[in-house]
Amino acid sequence: MTSLLLTRRQFLYASGILGIASFSLKAKTSIANTLRKGKMAYNAKDYNRLLGMEGFSDTLLKNHFTLYQGYVTNTNKSMDLLDQLLKEGKTGTPEYAELKRRFGWEFNGMRLHEYYFENLGGKKGIHKTGKLYQKLAQSFGSYEAWEKDFKATGAMRGIGWTILYQDILDGRLINFWINEHDMGHLSGGMPILIMDVFEHAFMIDYGLKRADYIEAFFRNINWEEAEKRLLLHKG
Ligand SMILES: [Fe+2]
Repeated sequence: MTSLLLTRRQFLYASGILGIASFSLKAKTSIANTLRKGKMAYNAKDYNRLLGMEGFSDTLLKNHFTLYQGYVTNTNKSMDLLDQLLKEGKTGTPEYAELKRRFGWEFNGMRLHEYYFENLGGKKGIHKTGKLYQKLAQSFGSYEAWEKDFKATGAMRGIGWTILYQDILDGRLINFWINEHDMGHLSGGMPILIMDVFEHAFMIDYGLKRADYIEAFFRNINWEEAEKRLLLHKG
């Protein structure tokens, strides 16, 4: 996800194909951080570099890392179980159908947390001459208008995610709200900046003061990482 180019994996993820096309893993019990015979399980990434980040307690972050690791484990488990049901000819069962529906929750929970943690830990502000700043100004009229809209989206009542997407066909940037992450994503949307606004992301440190959490998030955005996600759209 650090490539400037639209890799096949990025395209498949953004277009929602990857989650459907990844059911060829061997049916064995698996946990995160395992490498099975010739097949890769998803590995939980280490975000301990974020510990000590201003505005985020280590207790909050460690709890959040544990929650993320659960998504990775359950993504692998779901893939294994679905593969097993396929091999056993049980695709017409309620178990198969419910796991298929469940998979988006686990996979997106894993991947969105990775985008979120990776777009944190920055110590520099956004480069005003950079591609992302210019694209935000182009899409929203000004950087300030984008920031106001992104923060307002995150402050809405309810739990979910605030996502700055790039429309990979059109190139424009769009602020978006996701309630529960197994549904409602923009088709063809490439996540550029992710802010977790589920209560576990802030209540340990901020209680109900979500606006203070959003300000802390903004003080720690890794803008270089976000800019790397921006596709080299020619439009
Ligand atoms: Fe979270």
